Amino acid sequence: MIELDAVTKRYGDKTSVDRLSLTIPDNAITILLGPSGCGKTTTLKMINRLIEPTDGDIRIDGRSVHSMDPIDLRRSIGYVIQDVGLFPHFTVEGNIGVVPSLLDWDRARIRRRVGELLELVNLDPSVYLRRYPRELSGGERQRVGVARALAADPRVLLMDEPFGAIDPINRRSLQDFFLRLQSELKRTVVFVTHDIGEAVKLGDHVAIMRDGRLVQMDATRVLLENPADAFVEELLGATRSTEQLLRYRAAHYVDTAFTVMTTEEMYRSGVDSEAPLIILKDGDAISGYVEKGLLVTCEDPQEAVCRFETVSGNATLLEAVTTLLESGRKRAVVQSPDGTILGTLSVPMVAEIMAKVAR
Ligand SMILES: Nc1ncnc2c1ncn2[C@@H]1O[C@H](COP(=O)(O)OP(=O)(O)OP(=O)(O)O)[C@@H](O)[C@H]1O
Ligand SMILES: [Mg+2]
Repeated sequence: MIELDAVTKRYGDKTSVDRLSLTIPDNAITILLGPSGCGKTTTLKMINRLIEPTDGDIRIDGRSVHSMDPIDLRRSIGYVIQDVGLFPHFTVEGNIGVVPSLLDWDRARIRRRVGELLELVNLDPSVYLRRYPRELSGGERQRVGVARALAADPRVLLMDEPFGAIDPINRRSLQDFFLRLQSELKRTVVFVTHDIGEAVKLGDHVAIMRDGRLVQMDATRVLLENPADAFVEELLGATRSTEQLLRYRAAHYVDTAFTVMTTEEMYRSGVDSEAPLIILKDGDAISGYVEKGLLVTCEDPQEAVCRFETVSGNATLLEAVTTLLESGRKRAVVQSPDGTILGTLSVPMVAEIMAKVAR
């Protein structure tokens, strides 16, 4: 267990971490999430004493890190940074063996350990042992980085946006790889990320930081279901649906159950409770729409006419939803660039689409 006890880091009059108290449970992945500059990296570096706190205490298994030799401490904690930070003039073997050599392991033991670790991260030792970092892909470098951090079998692993620089597809496979690894090793991991999807996927617990302070820490599911305040809600909700919604084009998901008529036709055709959504189009202009059944309950058909927003069929679902939420309208009429009416979209419909694609 890692305990941060009212930890503060000040640079001059700037407070980067502000009386942060946090308990990081053993054998699980705890995600640190928050806006840029909120103090995540500073927090990680105080745990392995790359940065000394101005105030407060950090204990690992009840022992203050300040009572430990910083060099010994850092060797006992794995640390993976963004862009890995492999030593360019060392081979893969040299890189992974760095801490074990500092710990004076004999050569045979180091070699054995490096071989084991390469197998663990799915890199064939006979292929990769002698390679240099420049001869590896980004994803392979990242795996070597993880192997290096695990070399001396640390119980604690600090990972600062370790997969941040990797393209989305490789990132997903590195995440899967890391989850498999963790299910075997069960280390105490503190993992910084900007990516909500990554947080949700990897995190057993999530700690949300803002302006150097802890806003909420909970089991991932609890946190997602019970965000402590609007800030957390926005950080999770907005970004999470943003990622999803950006992948879909409005045109592909419209409700196509509608008929188009002029206002005059609506008056003439009278009441039809079975008619689907009616879109009123007089000349080139859409004047509104009428929901199924509404005509029956209104004295004057004109009362049943709802106002709407227009969205381009090429817009993403995010744009459609944003337009609807900002305008407060219930439906958007989706049109192709040449003005053809493709259908309509509502926020509940988009929610349903998202629920389906999430499965
Ligand atoms: N050496 C320093 N001197 C002065 N200010 C610093 C120093 N290091 C960090 N800061 C400030 O402390 C704050 C927290 O920085 P930190 O690197 O911990 O943020 P972060 O949460 O990791 O952000 P990001 O997500 O962008 O990596 C920032 O406002 C940063 O400018
Ligand atoms: Mg950072």
